Amino acid sequence: MTRRILVTSALPYANGPIHLGHMVEYIQTDIWARFQRMRGHEVHYVCADDAHGTPIMLRAQNEGITPEALISRIGQEHRADFADFLIGFDHYHVTHSEENRVLAEAVYRALRAGGHIAVRTIRQAYDPVKEMFLPDRFIKGECPKCGAPDQYGDSCEVCGATYSPTDLKNPKSAISGATPVERESEHYFFKLGDFEAVLKNWLASSAVQPEIAAKMNEWFAAGLQDWDISRDAPYFGFAIPDAPGKYFYVWLDAPIGYMASFKALCQIKGMDFDAFWKRGSETELWHFIGKDIAYFHTLFWPAMLAGSQHRLPTCVRAHGFLTVNGQKMSKSRGTFIMARSFLNHLNPEALRYYFAAKLNGTVEDIDLNLEDFMLRVNADLVGKVVNLASRTAGFIQRLFDGRLAQELHDPALYHEFVAAGDSIAAAYEASDTARAMREIMALADRANQYIDQHKPWALAKEGGREEEVQAICTQGLNLFRVLMTYLKPVLPGMAQKVEAFLHFGELTWDAPHQLMLHHVIQPFEPLMTRIEKDKIDAMLEENKTTLPGPAAAAPATEAKPAIEPIAETISIEDFAKIDLRIARIVKAEHVEGADKLLRLTLDIGSETRNVFAGIKSAYKPEDLEGRLTVMVANLAPRKMKFGLSEGMVLAASGAGAPGLFILSPDEGAQPGMRVK
Ligand code: 2FM
Ligand code: ZN
Repeated sequence: MTRRILVTSALPYANGPIHLGHMVEYIQTDIWARFQRMRGHEVHYVCADDAHGTPIMLRAQNEGITPEALISRIGQEHRADFADFLIGFDHYHVTHSEENRVLAEAVYRALRAGGHIAVRTIRQAYDPVKEMFLPDRFIKGECPKCGAPDQYGDSCEVCGATYSPTDLKNPKSAISGATPVERESEHYFFKLGDFEAVLKNWLASSAVQPEIAAKMNEWFAAGLQDWDISRDAPYFGFAIPDAPGKYFYVWLDAPIGYMASFKALCQIKGMDFDAFWKRGSETELWHFIGKDIAYFHTLFWPAMLAGSQHRLPTCVRAHGFLTVNGQKMSKSRGTFIMARSFLNHLNPEALRYYFAAKLNGTVEDIDLNLEDFMLRVNADLVGKVVNLASRTAGFIQRLFDGRLAQELHDPALYHEFVAAGDSIAAAYEASDTARAMREIMALADRANQYIDQHKPWALAKEGGREEEVQAICTQGLNLFRVLMTYLKPVLPGMAQKVEAFLHFGELTWDAPHQLMLHHVIQPFEPLMTRIEKDKIDAMLEENKTTLPGPAAAAPATEAKPAIEPIAETISIEDFAKIDLRIARIVKAEHVEGADKLLRLTLDIGSETRNVFAGIKSAYKPEDLEGRLTVMVANLAPRKMKFGLSEGMVLAASGAGAPGLFILSPDEGAQPGMRVK
């Protein structure tokens, strides 16, 4: 039976470049979509740029351009990155589009007509200089619990406390530096609780992975809260109907962007939109997302769909985060790798293969270890797969004018390869591409062992055994064709070259059922070259210079702050009061019960200090031990929940970029030296 499937990847924000963390998702989805197409199903893979919200509005202002100009430029960059990674979208749209406006209004009106919208007045922080309400993350101040300076409006990175922005001491707007005032404003809420039964039913349909189902049950147990879906002007988004000065919160119209992109595709191709979206439709709807946005896709989104007479997703499939060399991607370590930097030096299909070999269909994080990446791609793709063709095609070309034998040399072996297809298909279906790649590489090993055992090169020298040589190489090339069929969802570019080389039709999932015999192949062209270490180094080097720096002042998402305004001027005498010292981290340990803190023992020459630092998210304790850093040595000791903190180490964060970076002196500095 032909399945009719609409598949999506999460929409990237239109205010920054695509990096390799993003690529995990697009590669995972694209492999799944290509696999389904190869199986003969009807697949529509759509995506779009997520173009609304405060960060995009502020970034455009910082650049002195309109938000429309910003999103159009970034949209072009995104499209080029995706195309070069061979992501085969059927349509790529943008949420700031007429289709999306019409659909967002229609969904909202349906929710309102169903009684699922409430209006209430709330008090919120307001920036009197910038004349706008401030999202929590755009307010900074001192933690109400531990007094740590420079904490966001929703939680303290030092003691882990969570609170509301009105609790912050000395709050400041992260945009203008002004002290925020409280103001009242009417907000529109989506009554999520109305959909509890619908969501529980949906959960029972196995639409989500077990880990996500467990999360959903926690959310149900905690109670479903109304969701604030409005924002006050100024805001870059869609105006809410009949609500002057109010805009839809970006997360309201973002998932509707899936519909809008598909709508635009329907207009181009003359397809039926309702067949994929109307309540009761029998087509499939698959959303691929990162685990961090499960809340939006497994609560708000299905509830919005249900409340507006649409169908619910067939499946929401979440993946984990990407680490590079075992750690969070980091600008200081140079591992925050842009898609474009990678493309400028390395083969996109190598990354597609490596991610496929790591992703197993669960929400576990995956690691890109650059050394392992090089070794694995070279060993598997070049050493096993390409090598199989190159070591056999030459004989067929030279000795038989490109003509394959009439019969296979080992039909039983060939049938083993064909029989493996069902298990590999099941792994692809479950996005357990790690298992699919393992099974394919096990077959590749078998094929190479077969060639090693029969040594066509030795037979060719013997003379009089040409027929055997032809049969063995024909066997090898038929096995190669099966392998390339199974790898095609992951390596579409290489598969295309192979189709031209074998000249025996398209590699569909069923292609291995047809044997390639007495057929003339084309001359063999190199299909993939080895990854050399200097290419990886050059990529990392270039990446350093192209990282989005301070010019990208606005945060990447609402959860990140803009560049902080420079603080009030102080005198040199004021500065001299701060005693900064070089310190050696002699010990770094986890603190039982603290999410963000590490306990550091610091040697400052004359004495050692015990300091709690909120840097756990960025550093492993063992990586810190022995390092030099800079500390404030004359800060009054502070009693914290976990003990006394005798000073503070200096670390940088913000500027719209993720990560936390402790400062280090140049080589030669010694513990105890004063920093002036
Ligand atoms: O988290 C993000 O990057 C969002 N831009 C994803 C949106 S997905 C969908 F809901 F639109
Ligand atoms: Zn605190």
